[in-house]
Amino acid sequence: MEQICFELENIEINYLDKEILKIDRLAVHQFDRIGIVGKNGVGKSTLLKLLTGHIQPTQGKVNRHVEYGYFEQLEAPNGNEADPRLLGKLQVSKKQDFLSGGEQTRLKLAQVFSHYYECLLIDEPTTHLDQEGISYLLDELRYYYGALVLISHDRAVLDELVTTIWEIHDGKVNVYAGNYSEYIAQKQLERTQQTQAHEQFLKEKNRLEKAAEEKKKTAEKIAKASSMSKKESKAKPNRMFETKSKGTGQKALQRAAKAIEHRVEKLHTVEAVQEERPIIFHQASTLELHNKFPIMADRLSICAGDNVLLEDVSFQIPLGKKIAITGNNGSGKSTLFQTIVDKGPGLTISPKAKIGLFQQMSYQFTSDETVLQLLQTSSTYEDGFLRSVLHSMRFVGTDLQKKVQSLSGGEAIRLQICQLFLGEYNILLLDEPTNFLDIHAIQALEKFIKSYKGTILFISHDKQFIANVADGQFHISDKKLIQK
Ligand SMILES: Nc1ncnc2c1ncn2[C@@H]1O[C@H](COP(=O)(O)OP(=O)(O)OP(=O)(O)O)[C@@H](O)[C@H]1O
Ligand SMILES: [Mg+2]
Repeated sequence: MEQICFELENIEINYLDKEILKIDRLAVHQFDRIGIVGKNGVGKSTLLKLLTGHIQPTQGKVNRHVEYGYFEQLEAPNGNEADPRLLGKLQVSKKQDFLSGGEQTRLKLAQVFSHYYECLLIDEPTTHLDQEGISYLLDELRYYYGALVLISHDRAVLDELVTTIWEIHDGKVNVYAGNYSEYIAQKQLERTQQTQAHEQFLKEKNRLEKAAEEKKKTAEKIAKASSMSKKESKAKPNRMFETKSKGTGQKALQRAAKAIEHRVEKLHTVEAVQEERPIIFHQASTLELHNKFPIMADRLSICAGDNVLLEDVSFQIPLGKKIAITGNNGSGKSTLFQTIVDKGPGLTISPKAKIGLFQQMSYQFTSDETVLQLLQTSSTYEDGFLRSVLHSMRFVGTDLQKKVQSLSGGEAIRLQICQLFLGEYNILLLDEPTNFLDIHAIQALEKFIKSYKGTILFISHDKQFIANVADGQFHISDKKLIQK
């Protein structure tokens, strides 16, 4: 008999009167490899925090039977020493404040992997990781033989590592056997079947309604005919018998029509497949810029402490283009952005440039404001407009009153991006903007970037995203910036 690691019983979690999760019974067993999927804000991290006891359910019970390791989505690495062998090239001696995003993720992972646990609960571990980092993660988890519960938006990682999918939708957890691709195939099949059943339902409903209509029409005709013949029969009383028989026929038809209408009511309604309402990122006015190359570097060198990150690098960023900056963890991508914002020596930046920066590690809000208040204090737009902007980004109803501190990873990123896009800029620097975003939000972001009138530099490890939006690419390698 397989050992049970965790058990959830009659769980309910509510925030601001909204039901986030409702679970009758769910268990994690000894050899399970579970991937949790679902849109931003559906409750994936909440479910993990429930298992670990970081949060208590509004109702219900959680039983824990094992020791577990936990990789938390929005947490910075702690000061504990990690096994240096697990860190690969990363120097553990580096002070944590100076670690790049990817280095921090690696450190956090190394800390979790440095002990053996019977169960690992891991929330979006690929954040900031380059390809090498992802390979390290896969190697660690592929041969791990405890129970694994993994949240990720990365399909390839899920496909490699899990054999069961827990899909969270509308507060419910739906369990699917198989990896991510198999789950998607099952979902596709469900959609096709539902569409067919819906069409069948409409057809049958239509047929019955028509039949009822016909019966009613015939009944009406008979009624008309009989009222005519009544008039006539006043003149000729000997035709009474015929009118009576017409009256009964008419009643029978009306009864039949009623019966059919009743059948229509009783028909088991099959709803059409619900299409997702798209997310839209709004854009404030872009300030004009005329320089052919608003950012130029001439023999630029960048250091971080004693480390030389870029040496004698020259480049030009053309006006209005969307340029990807790529490179391994720790290669200096974010530092390059900071140098551009600071207009460091070696850089020529158009005097009319207004640069907006989306920072890589900015996903944790610390203020006590609500979602709406945050936008009110950071922009000059009136409330009605802000509400409509938030609405188009799926912040609806009580979401506007949520404290920004309590937002999910993806929600926090969406709000930060929205805040930036409402500012008056003509150059945007986006440092890994797709972290934590679900596929709907990524598609919205792609649309925005493509239609943006100004110039955008963005850092990303997501090949698909780069292919979809970049007009050009610069790759940092061995202290050089190579145009691809
Ligand atoms: N303390 C709280 N008060 C109010 N709402 C909260 C609180 N904590 C979480 N929420 C809300 O609960 C929902 C679920 O959050 P959770 O972090 O579990 O989402 P998620 O599925 O992990 O999303 P993501 O993919 O963005 O990481 C979100 O809408 C979040 O804003
Ligand atoms: Mg989460």
